[in-house]
Amino acid sequence: MKISGQTVLITGGTSGIGLALAKMFVESGNRVIVVGRDPRKLETVEASHELISTVQCDLGRQDELEKLLLIVQRDYPDVTVLINNAGLQHNYYLTETSLPYQRIENEIDVNFTAVVKLSTMLLPLLSTKAEAAIVNVSSGLAFAPKENAAVYCATKAAVHNFTTVLRYQLEKTSIKVFELIPPLVETAMTAGRGAGKITPETVAGEFKAAWLKDRVEVNVGKIKLMRAMLRWVPGFITNKLRYST
Ligand SMILES: NC(=O)c1ccc[n+]([C@@H]2O[C@H](COP(=O)([O-])OP(=O)(O)OC[C@H]3O[C@@H](n4cnc5c(N)ncnc54)[C@H](OP(=O)(O)O)[C@@H]3O)[C@@H](O)[C@H]2O)c1
Repeated sequence: MKISGQTVLITGGTSGIGLALAKMFVESGNRVIVVGRDPRKLETVEASHELISTVQCDLGRQDELEKLLLIVQRDYPDVTVLINNAGLQHNYYLTETSLPYQRIENEIDVNFTAVVKLSTMLLPLLSTKAEAAIVNVSSGLAFAPKENAAVYCATKAAVHNFTTVLRYQLEKTSIKVFELIPPLVETAMTAGRGAGKITPETVAGEFKAAWLKDRVEVNVGKIKLMRAMLRWVPGFITNKLRYST
């Protein structure tokens, strides 16, 4: 894939991994459209670089997704790359909480349903381009879940399978389908949790290297070893991840 001259639409590009990816793409000479909810964060990121513009959208709401599609069709029809990065994680035990409908819906809607809907909505536009890509951000927890994040881990496993099948369905088209699989990264989502975190910039750097080589499954940092160990010593690694924080 070309690393410059693309128009990249990235969800959740106002902080963490999304912001690092947005910066990496603008610094490489691409136009970037950042989608997020918080207007103040959107203003800050838009002011940070002339190649960044922003659209406010709550990805958990169907009406807002439809509005986003209209804005993209009207203002950014040259979009060539969609990065489905926005996500959230709730940590709790289903046995210790009373009907957490809001948290269940929110995690499924943003982490998974919005990924499927946005990919599908933008397919007609992307398929008119000589070179295009969809990038979905899953997680190491898609492969070995942790005990206090049942819904989060399930959504990430769903993103992994959805991405694999989307790649099958698009293999004869000009649209490449990438999966970015980060380990534990130092972001707002993981504040106060875990150890040995890597920076969002390291994730963006590894992603850029994979992008340049058309390596579509991007196992970042420790994820390479983790997935190999899942084959060699599955019990050890699933137990380690089960009790991670
Ligand atoms: N951090 C890790 O260790 C790690 C590891 C593996 C995978 N991941 C995945 O990487 C992705 C980015 O995570 P992060 O750690 O960088 O998180 P983060 O710093 O908390 O950023 C999350 C981003 O998602 C946006 N977002 C959340 N809910 C949204 C909604 N309803 N509508 C629109 N935007 C929404 C946020 O924007 P607003 O603030 O405006 O809502 C923010 O820009 C997620 O998919 C996460 O699951 C993270």
